[in-house]
Formats: sequence, C-alpha cells, structure tokens
Amino acid sequence: MRKLALLAGDGIGPEIIKEALNVLDAISDKSPSFQYEVKEALIGGIAIDNTGTALPKETVELCKDSDAVLLGAVGGPKWDNTDPGGVRPEQGLLGIRKELGLFANLRPVKIFDALIDSSTLKPEYLKDVDIMVVRELTGGIYFGERKRVGDRAYDTCDYTFSEIERLLRIGFDLAGKRGGKVHSIDKANVLESSRLWREVAVKVHADYPEIELSHMLVDNCAMQLIRNPAQFDVIATSNMFGDILSDEASMLTGSLGMLASASLGSKGVSLYEPSHGSAPDIAGQNIANPIATIMSVSLMLRYSFDLMYEADIIDKAIEDVLDDRFRTADIMEDGATKVTTAEMGEKIVASIKKQ
Ligand code: IPM
Ligand code: MG
Repeated sequence: MRKLALLAGDGIGPEIIKEALNVLDAISDKSPSFQYEVKEALIGGIAIDNTGTALPKETVELCKDSDAVLLGAVGGPKWDNTDPGGVRPEQGLLGIRKELGLFANLRPVKIFDALIDSSTLKPEYLKDVDIMVVRELTGGIYFGERKRVGDRAYDTCDYTFSEIERLLRIGFDLAGKRGGKVHSIDKANVLESSRLWREVAVKVHADYPEIELSHMLVDNCAMQLIRNPAQFDVIATSNMFGDILSDEASMLTGSLGMLASASLGSKGVSLYEPSHGSAPDIAGQNIANPIATIMSVSLMLRYSFDLMYEADIIDKAIEDVLDDRFRTADIMEDGATKVTTAEMGEKIVASIKKQ
C-alpha cells in the first residue's frame, strides 16, 4: 500500500487535485498491484487561516511519513503582504521543499501535436521541442540571508560546490536517457555564485564525456527559448533562474496549465505539483486546466513508484483527449469543444478506462 500525502492548498488547488485523484483511482482499478491510501494536510493560505502558520508541524510529519506528496498550489491576494516578518502562503511551499530536501525540480516541457496552434510561437519553431528543465530547489537566492535594514533590503544568492554538483549530476544523468545535451545556465559574467556554478559544471562534465555540455548566460537563454527552442534538451540551472525560465518555457506548450513538475530529494520522499500557481482569479469557477496536475501524477508513478506502463497510460489518455479537441479555457481554439475542469478530468479518466 503506497502512502500519499495530499496538500491541496489554495485557489484552484482543490479543484485540480480532485481530478488528479480521480485519475489515480482509475489507474489503481486498472492495475491492482498499485494500491494507495491518501491522507490530507494543510499548507499555504488555508493553513495560515486554520493554524496561523503556512506549514504546520503535522503537515511536515505526514509528508515525511509518506511515499510521495501531491500538491495543488498555494497563495492568493487574501494573504499578500510586504511585511518583512509577515506570514505568507509561499513559506509553506518553500518550507516543505527544504524539509524534504527536494533539491532537484524537474519540469518537462513537451509539445502535444494537438496543441501546436495554441502556442504563441509559430508552429515551425515548435516541431521537435522536448525540454527538461532541471531547477535547483533548496538553495540560491531563495534560501540565502535576506534582510531589511532601514531603507535598504538585500537577498543573498549562496551556493556550495556540493549543492551545485548534485543538481548537475541529475541533469547529466537525465540527458544520458534523453537527447544527450545539457545547457548549464548561469550569469557567470556578473555573479560569483554563477562562476562557481560554471566551474562545477566543467568538473562534473568530466564524468559524462558522452554528454554535450554548453554554458549559456541566463539572459541569452531567455532569448534562445523563444528564438530556437528545439536546440535544448536538458536545461540545468539555479533556483531563481529555473523559476523564471520554466514559466517562459511552459508557454511553448501553449499554457502554463500544461507544465507538470517532480521535485526529487535525498530523503526518499518526492513531491509532485503543477508548475503553475493558485490562479485566485479563476478559483472556484471550474474552468482551470487540470492537465499539469494530472501529468504530475504520471511523473509520480514514473519516478516514485517505477510504474512506467501506468504512467504511459495517463500520458496517452491526455494526448487522446487533446486529439479529440477537448480544451479548457486556457488552451481553447476555434473548432474545439470547451470543457470545464471536471469535464477534462472525466474525459481523461474515460480514456484511461478504455485503454
Ligand atoms: C514555482 C512557484 C514558487 C517558486 C512560488 C509560489 C514560491 O513560482 O513553484 O515555480 O517560486 O518556486
Ligand atoms: Mg514559478
């Protein structure tokens, strides 16, 4: 029996998580060897409302005692503040990443043929795009010292050799199973932490002679992702650069609602979540796209449970439903059938059952 911790969070979190659970249910019906139990806990704004903190102790304990964590999204205007000591929903997300040691965040950017016209880029630039963003997740400027002093404020970007090394090793290992290329992204012309990053990349590369390594400055990478996205295979980068570049890369697929993620750590429990946020503007309206969360379930089956066949079934179901031209509002196009969050979930479940 696999133990899943479920952290639905805020905004559209509960709606999209519900569809992901229906998909898990359909998979365990199909694959009796995959049985699971779900326990829910609070994170983010809803945790602040109920307990005063964005990451209650019970949530951390439940996650540590689970085989995998599935997370919706956190945050919303209700809890926004600029108070230096303020409580914020995002502290829950950053806190659980740190507590579970989730140093590597994998964000696959895959183009579905059926969605090629939903992208803001011309179709000829999207052919053959298949990128894996590998983002460092527990270091860098997100976790360095920060302070307000009088009318000044600072944040520190801090990395050790070993933090960079373990992230890059994941990038090189993945590249070995994919296109054989790593782009290591930094800002080595300005930042000391980036110069260290580049040195580590060169050293780690010595163990992977069959992989092609390119260094690229982050500003250039932002431009190249739009100019010629098909040149990339694995993009390995720091926490904040990865945050920004993965949002950008997600739009190649047509919508941020299509980008799943897996956060892998050193402690055996991995976390799966869509890369998008809680979308408070559309929360509760049953119009959000649940596909990123459903694809995160597929990543969970792949990376945490080694259930490749079952993961393929989910991916195929998503592809079939898109081929049948069912679309949530964010990927809607002429001639397609517009569906709600729940209907998209139902279509995917129906396709799983048919396979
Ligand atoms: C993400 C999000 C988070 C991040 C926020 C909500 C703290 O943007 O997962 O990409 O910056 O890591
Ligand atoms: Mg982000």
